[in-house]
Amino acid sequence: MDALLSLFPPGSERGDDGMLLIGGCRADALADEFGTPVLVVSERALRSRAREYADELAARWPRSRVVFASKAFPCTAVQRVMVEEGLGLDVAGGGEIVTALAAGADPALLVLHGNAKSDEEIAMAVEHGIGLVVVDNSDDVDRLEATVPAGRAQDVLVRVIPGVQADTHASVLTGHEGSKFGLAPSAAAELIGRIERSPRLRLQGLHVHVGSQILDVEPFAKSVAPIAALGEFPVYDLGGGLGARYSYEDRPPSVPEYLDALTGAAREHLPGDAELIVEPGRSMVASAAATIYRVVTVKRGSVTFVAVDGGMGDNLEVALFGQRFEAAVADRMDATDGETVTLVGRHCESGDVLVDGVRLDAPRVGDLIAVPATGAYCHTMANNYNGNRRIPVAFAADGAARLVVRRETWADLLARDVD
Ligand SMILES: Cc1ncc(COP(=O)(O)O)c(C=O)c1O
Repeated sequence: MDALLSLFPPGSERGDDGMLLIGGCRADALADEFGTPVLVVSERALRSRAREYADELAARWPRSRVVFASKAFPCTAVQRVMVEEGLGLDVAGGGEIVTALAAGADPALLVLHGNAKSDEEIAMAVEHGIGLVVVDNSDDVDRLEATVPAGRAQDVLVRVIPGVQADTHASVLTGHEGSKFGLAPSAAAELIGRIERSPRLRLQGLHVHVGSQILDVEPFAKSVAPIAALGEFPVYDLGGGLGARYSYEDRPPSVPEYLDALTGAAREHLPGDAELIVEPGRSMVASAAATIYRVVTVKRGSVTFVAVDGGMGDNLEVALFGQRFEAAVADRMDATDGETVTLVGRHCESGDVLVDGVRLDAPRVGDLIAVPATGAYCHTMANNYNGNRRIPVAFAADGAARLVVRRETWADLLARDVD
């Protein structure tokens, strides 16, 4: 497979006329059917990655569970795929509980996170019988004790800061000393004591998460020893964070490499009969999708700006932490040359750049532009900047496509204005 196609969802092809196909669906047909921009997910790619994670973890650690970090692609259809593939769901807050339940998830397989869970969210967790609540602070314990009815006990994990620095962007780093998430080991030890004395909480174990878009296995392995020092428990949730492949240079560890490192450290430091949980988000979904845009204008000068009909309203990853993406003219995937352009969006912000410096084949108004690896956190952070109508999500499989999230309408934009 050539380098460009390798960034698109596995199974993507180039038609005889040069057109990009995702899940067997032509990019031009997808654009005609759903309009642009559209976030296209290869359903087969999504399912096969979920299976790969589940099979590879089970092969290394039979008492284990893969829990999809819903925040990476929080929509019912994606959560439903994960549920159908036998995975649990990590939910960060009430909204993800609502969509997870709508997706048919067994509440017992949900893991609730949050560094600032509200009374309402704690009440939802208890009411729906969510399997594990990850306690981030002592106020979580106060709230649970005030909410769990007498005679019941809520299973919890305590989130521990492992003090591990990973090489990733500061805004997606969480396991370092001074992180707002979780507790330093000494504070965690104190809270563990309190939970063990509480009749309304049942301590199942510990949780750790180093950060996101981590392209090296070492920080994951290093995060295990600090939690092992806190004692032996039935459950250890080792978080998510494995990086995804966005650009030609990225070489993220494979799922087997990542799990070898994690279970290797677990074998060294944790009880052999403990249950292991992993919570992949980005690496589960990023490469399963691509966004298709249409070129609105090409402005040639000292820099050639190719502006499309989307941008930071559907992909905040670039503005938020400078993530490098690639792009191609979807109609001419067979092009062998091109000119270097800056691919920009339509929003009133100079930071609204999709790709700074990408070679595109003679881009012109009306061309379709495809940006691969937009499956993670793009739908999550879609927004209404400049009155943007958030874009639809379509699943493509075996040459057929179906809408799973519709495009917002002008009426949607007015729907919450009550005066
Ligand atoms: C607690 C927790 N688990 C899992 C994840 C998923 O991380 P990623 O999408 O990088 O795999 C996150 C995201 O930051 C997280 O905060």
